[in-house]
Amino acid sequence: MNRKSWRAAAVTGVVVAMTAATAILWQGTSNAASTLGASAAERGRYFGTAIAGSRLSDSQYTTIANREFNMITAENEMKLDATEPNQNQFSFGSGDQIVNWATGNGKRVRGHTLAWHSQQPGWMQRMEGSSLRQAMLNHVTRVATNYRGKIYAWDVVNEAFADGASGARRDSNLQRTGNDWIEAAFRAARSADPNAKLCYNDYNTDNWSHAKTQAVYRMVQDFKSRGVPIDCVGFQAHFNSGNPVPSNYHTTLQNFADLGVDVQITELDIEGSGSSQADQYRGIVQACQAVARCTGITVWGVRDSDSWRASGTPLLFNGSGQKKAAYDAVLAQLNTGQPTNPSPSSPGPSTSPTTDPGGGGCTATYSEGQKWNDRFNGQVTVTGSSNWIVTVTVGSPQRITATWNVSATWDSSGNVMTGRPNGNGDTFGFTIQHGGNWTWPTLSCRTA
Ligand code: G3I
Repeated sequence: MNRKSWRAAAVTGVVVAMTAATAILWQGTSNAASTLGASAAERGRYFGTAIAGSRLSDSQYTTIANREFNMITAENEMKLDATEPNQNQFSFGSGDQIVNWATGNGKRVRGHTLAWHSQQPGWMQRMEGSSLRQAMLNHVTRVATNYRGKIYAWDVVNEAFADGASGARRDSNLQRTGNDWIEAAFRAARSADPNAKLCYNDYNTDNWSHAKTQAVYRMVQDFKSRGVPIDCVGFQAHFNSGNPVPSNYHTTLQNFADLGVDVQITELDIEGSGSSQADQYRGIVQACQAVARCTGITVWGVRDSDSWRASGTPLLFNGSGQKKAAYDAVLAQLNTGQPTNPSPSSPGPSTSPTTDPGGGGCTATYSEGQKWNDRFNGQVTVTGSSNWIVTVTVGSPQRITATWNVSATWDSSGNVMTGRPNGNGDTFGFTIQHGGNWTWPTLSCRTA
């Protein structure tokens, strides 16, 4: 992305000055959380970071990442060159390492990215026309299928619009396969992983008056009107002094959300330091808080030294892993939000009905119950046998804290509950203390 042209935004203000109504909406709670992820989760959002696989052996890095964030994006490991280095030879090891670290620590994953003009493997860079179109669709299908059920949202297509005043598509080998390449990619992704949210992701789309923003808006509007499966728009949000946070950022997010898509801030970093940097970060959080469909914010790295532009010190932790003023501003702003009774805007990866793949003679079907800030109820209905054994597996850091209409035992980890009938029929329930992880449990059913 060094080739990216950082066009100066017309407006240099930050979004600190929100409307009075918005300010009132987000004030007046004493429920302060102590980490970014926990605060966001209590208010129905996530706060994420990009993770580089090569840094997972750095304990300072993983300690901060694990403590502060509840959504993870692989910085490079799920891109085209990483996942399909040779045509039709897929390589998921590096991506899996990050996904496993995330899910093992109770975090969700944003997938980045399935189709992009950049970071293509050499074989793809040399392709054009219908063979490239087929190769691209094959890539989307194979990668999304590999990660099916593990991804909260995919950046299906990344950076497909040109910078500047043209409002045109970016010229690329993918674009030259025909203007419908983007919608073809979205359709392939939907078929491969129907439960993942499908996003279009781009940069320099923050200022509502910019031609590129308008062009992406028109594409999303068109997709929604024609039923092309798009669920969300990602705003990368790489800012610096030449490209500051625009004062109309809230307007941009709201206008996209009004098209019927979620909006997410996907790669946030702001070059600078001190109170100026902190104010801009605070403004971004305010803008997201003010838009109901802004489901979360991801910063593009953990410490300044981990950043793709480390010299600009654009992140929330310094190179020694200490919290910066920007961190304090973000956490304080997150904590001004009213705790909600959030419902996950999409079901977690393991959704009902879940049948024992071994054909255990019964089916256990999950349905959602009541939700609170810190916990939610689930209900399981068993069909096919009244002599059932159902296992309910929850993800970290979830814990089942109550059960009813079931005789329950637990494995040593506490994550797997085995339920048998207790004379109250074939429907039972439980309460899960979620700890910020709203993923539904996995079920399996067999007969005794
Ligand atoms: O891993 C190799 C290393 O073995 C080798 O010695 C070194 C020499 O150049 O390169 C290393 O790979 C680099 C890789 O980052 C890991 O550090 C690549 O050269 C470098 O090109 C790559 O840069 C990434 C960039 O995307 C590539 O386009 C950045 O880490 C990554 O932060 C950046 O992320 C993008 C998003 O995907 C899309 N939006 C913009 C954003 C920032 O540019």
